Amino acid sequence: MSIRIATPADAEAIAAAEAETQRTPGLLVGWPGEIPVEAYRAKIGKLATAGRYIVAEDADGLAGHAFLDPMPMHANAHVFLLTIVVHPRHVGRGVGRSMLRDLLEWAQRDARVGKVELNVRAGNLRAQQLYRGFGFVEEARFARRVRRIDGIFEDDLGMAWFPRRAARAAN
Ligand SMILES: CC(C)(COP(=O)(O)OP(=O)(O)OC[C@H]1O[C@@H](n2cnc3c(N)ncnc32)[C@H](O)[C@@H]1OP(=O)(O)O)[C@@H](O)C(=O)NCCC(=O)NCCS
Repeated sequence: MSIRIATPADAEAIAAAEAETQRTPGLLVGWPGEIPVEAYRAKIGKLATAGRYIVAEDADGLAGHAFLDPMPMHANAHVFLLTIVVHPRHVGRGVGRSMLRDLLEWAQRDARVGKVELNVRAGNLRAQQLYRGFGFVEEARFARRVRRIDGIFEDDLGMAWFPRRAARAAN
């Protein structure tokens, strides 16, 4: 398994894998098919310079994708939002750990990153365990924030990670 920067040609495989993952309630926030392939392609293009978009692949094709995407305003452009998706049939084999390590090593090196944030469903203990292992801390709980495809409402947790850099804070 190796990790490389995503290219626009990966967009269709990424969209298909996400749609398949989204059919299991309680993992990703999106519903299958709601994001057009073009939006995946645009995100890969944007993050080629504005952030980092990676894929994991083995001899059979993609095994996962993950990215860090900066928030849009000057005031919060130092906050990068994390998304990580290990594709079905590849979970539990270290792919998630490898992709997260890559992204956080990049975040540690890139001076634009002041904070990494993510949202994770309260019931997704596997993902939370992974994040905690890398030093993410829980910052918030958003009650009934997610309506899953099975109609059940679920809480979302906000988690954050900070690079080891001296930061000036007002509070
Ligand atoms: C959550 C996810 C990213 C984890 O990646 P993964 O490749 O399956 O996990 P890894 O094999 O790299 O394991 C890394 C850590 O995850 C945790 N983990 C893995 N499988 C687990 C399980 N069945 N139960 C609890 N924790 C588990 C452990 O902390 C593990 O570390 P350890 O092996 O030292 O115990 C991946 O399963 C995934 O993408 N799932 C579907 C989409 C999703 O949930 N994305 C996150 C949305 S916020």
